[in-house]
Amino acid sequence: MTALSPTAPSPSAPSPTEMTRAVALVVRPAAALRGSPRLPGDKSISHRALLLGLLAEGRSTIVGLSEGEDVRSTRSIIEALGARVEVGDVDASDRVTVDSDGLASLTPPSRPLDCGNAGTTMRLVAGILAGQPFAATLDGDDSLRSRPMGRVIEPLRAMGASVSAAAGDRAPLEIGGRAHLTAIDWTPEVASAQVKSAILLAGLRADGTTIVRESVATRDHTERMLRARGVAVRSRDDGRGGDVVELDGGQAVRPYDESIPGDVSAAAFWLVAGVAHPDASLELEAVGINPGRRAAIDLLREMGGDIEERRAISAQGGTLDPEPGEPAADLVVRSSNLRSIDVDGRSVAAAIDEIPVLALAATQARGTSRFRSIGELRVKESDRIAGIVAGLRALGADIAVDGNDLVVVGPTPLHGAEVDGQADHRLVMTFAIAGLLAAGQTTIHGAASHAISDPGFLTELERIRP
Ligand code: S3P
Repeated sequence: MTALSPTAPSPSAPSPTEMTRAVALVVRPAAALRGSPRLPGDKSISHRALLLGLLAEGRSTIVGLSEGEDVRSTRSIIEALGARVEVGDVDASDRVTVDSDGLASLTPPSRPLDCGNAGTTMRLVAGILAGQPFAATLDGDDSLRSRPMGRVIEPLRAMGASVSAAAGDRAPLEIGGRAHLTAIDWTPEVASAQVKSAILLAGLRADGTTIVRESVATRDHTERMLRARGVAVRSRDDGRGGDVVELDGGQAVRPYDESIPGDVSAAAFWLVAGVAHPDASLELEAVGINPGRRAAIDLLREMGGDIEERRAISAQGGTLDPEPGEPAADLVVRSSNLRSIDVDGRSVAAAIDEIPVLALAATQARGTSRFRSIGELRVKESDRIAGIVAGLRALGADIAVDGNDLVVVGPTPLHGAEVDGQADHRLVMTFAIAGLLAAGQTTIHGAASHAISDPGFLTELERIRP
């Protein structure tokens, strides 16, 4: 059984973040797990489908757009910049249409642009605004205001953009007012698809060829989606596990009809529930399996997870064509005997959003698991290292930080406890899955934030109990 209950009402009107923190979720163990939890549309692809719809002149359509709060933030920002967005039409109630006058005709917004909790929104929109003739302000909630923005500010300034920020290169950011940018050849210090994407989007408005050199290749949705919209983006392997991506400035973005696969990062919670629960069989439909996103599936399999890929399809509906469409497959997951895993820094980067729930899987695996070079997890929506260690320890796990590694010894039986989800969607959902496995009752504080990426999560958590 699952219950979401507001704790004592706050005397004054709470900020959205306080409101989020004030909701507790109670999860009781499940005797068995069966069925087919529904997934939200992929969050990374949803943000980009909206943003590229803004940059294209004409009508774009999107099927399967995520209804998560992060993507809603992006939607309201593209509307503030001049796009017209409508949901639902005669043949597909979930079809979203985006009409825009395109990259050269954005409207100066009359208010600061609120990115909410969404780092992807802030960093990608920063790239779009960099080459605009007007200035705009990007802001967000307390979590987003505490996250590092220097990683996008630096390259955008190097391209000639005007960017000012709060102390420590934090949001709010004031950006734009320079219609002319110059291409750069940039090697980001951190493996980040958000940074790569911000630079490429700014590169559309720059003179010359913008080059991003990644020592660890990150998810390539921006490149695939730009190509699908008629923008020539060249990518090549650097021969050392990295990637070089190039784009010539001045290219137009054409409208496109996008069909978005199920979010593999959301699927990861159900995959871990399935492999770790002793009586589970779950099916997940049309999960995105882009090579840059599927690391969690592969790592769970390496741990002995019984995950079958049934029907390989393209989210575009056609054959499995790696470009421009996004590949997808149906997955079937069953109870498994898990063994420990040693995850190197490259794989940690590839599964960055799934590390908290993979750490939960490791608590149920035989042996000592190690997740290496986990520093980036400290600057996500919360300090996910501190949050996962505190939460899983309270539930009975043997988990510790060793230098820059996370070490989990298993298997340990979990027991219900009170844990703090840190108003971080991925921590909340990890602890909710732990609650299905744990003896007794698990109470998760800050739980409403699951809706950042998966508003349907609690319904599905109930539906999979036979
Ligand atoms: C994202 C990239 C990743 C990821 C985030 C979504 C994207 O962030 O953690 O949830 O859509 O580009 P970084 O690029 O900062 O690693």
